[in-house]
Amino acid sequence: MSADKLQNWPGVIRQYQRHLPVTEDTPIVTLGEGNTPLVPAHNFVESIGGKFELHLKYEGLNPTCSFKDRGMTMAISKAKENGAEVVICASTGNTSAAAAAYAARAKMQCVVLIPNGNIAVGKLAQALLYGSTTVAIEGNFDEALRIVRELGETGKVEVVNSINPFRIEGQKTASFEICDQLGRAPDFHFLPVGNAGNITAYWKGYKEYFSVKLSDRLPRMFGYQAAGAAPIVDGAPVEQPNTVATAIRIGNPASWDGAQAAIAESNGHINKVTDEEILAAYKRVATSDGVIVEPASAASLAGVIKANAEGMIPDGSVVTATMSGHGLKDPDNAIKNAGFEPTVVEATREAVMKVIGL
Ligand code: F0G
Repeated sequence: MSADKLQNWPGVIRQYQRHLPVTEDTPIVTLGEGNTPLVPAHNFVESIGGKFELHLKYEGLNPTCSFKDRGMTMAISKAKENGAEVVICASTGNTSAAAAAYAARAKMQCVVLIPNGNIAVGKLAQALLYGSTTVAIEGNFDEALRIVRELGETGKVEVVNSINPFRIEGQKTASFEICDQLGRAPDFHFLPVGNAGNITAYWKGYKEYFSVKLSDRLPRMFGYQAAGAAPIVDGAPVEQPNTVATAIRIGNPASWDGAQAAIAESNGHINKVTDEEILAAYKRVATSDGVIVEPASAASLAGVIKANAEGMIPDGSVVTATMSGHGLKDPDNAIKNAGFEPTVVEATREAVMKVIGL
């Protein structure tokens, strides 16, 4: 393949420009996000006794290693177009990593509010290294978002959380890509639900592609919250959300209505999965198919396992699931849950042979 063929992905805004609210004058701030692989997970399906096709949208392979880059290229480009100098967000770690990276590239100041002690170490490292002003509040994500909304009202900072509609516009491109990669829309789409922006965005994307006849069907949207942070499933905000999946440790999602509309309009389903179920799915997909995701992403796979056990996925269905963030963002959980430790031996061939049973 020629060099140009290998380098021709222009990022999601240029690729899907005609579906996005940008003009020729929008200064596009991109790191080449999008075009992430759709990885078939045959072994995973076989291991749970399923009779359907499962494809993992591996969003951990975006430039800052989560799906947030799709929304952030839009939010930062539009902020730049509008002359903003300072952007701000509340985050459980991935939005802040993406905001910090794209703001750095756009030469803007970035301020991130994170829940002190409750973000994965890789995400903290990103916010710091990309040079954002990192504020760890003694509170949770919902409290951080409340402060960010208040600061947004001063007009001095541009909020780049998913309450910024350009974020949703960028994130909907994941649905376009899935349709382009599969040559059709899936029958079911599974994803983790935290602040509920992504389920809102995916559904918007699937509907738009369908309405312009670039796909011939609409999937049923299946969303999963962590049991300790399941306000939409339980029907009320959760004061003290808690889960090992810190990315979705959210008690009062901003896009609650969007999630409910996606589920109702698509004849979908929303449910919750326990931390044990999340960690079991997390480990299963790593060992069955060589895909490492962060715990929040595994909530969608715990959902696939649950829906399959409940007989909700007919044989032969085409199922997609969003692997929202890379597993290496959270090495502490990876090591803690692997179930193995390295075997330390003296540096001899015999010692190694003994360990492997040769
Ligand atoms: N998966 C990961 C890895 C996430 O980081 C998030 C959200 C979600 C799933 C849920 O997506 O909020 O659109 O429903 N992370 C946000 C953040 C809250 O601050 O990084 P959602």
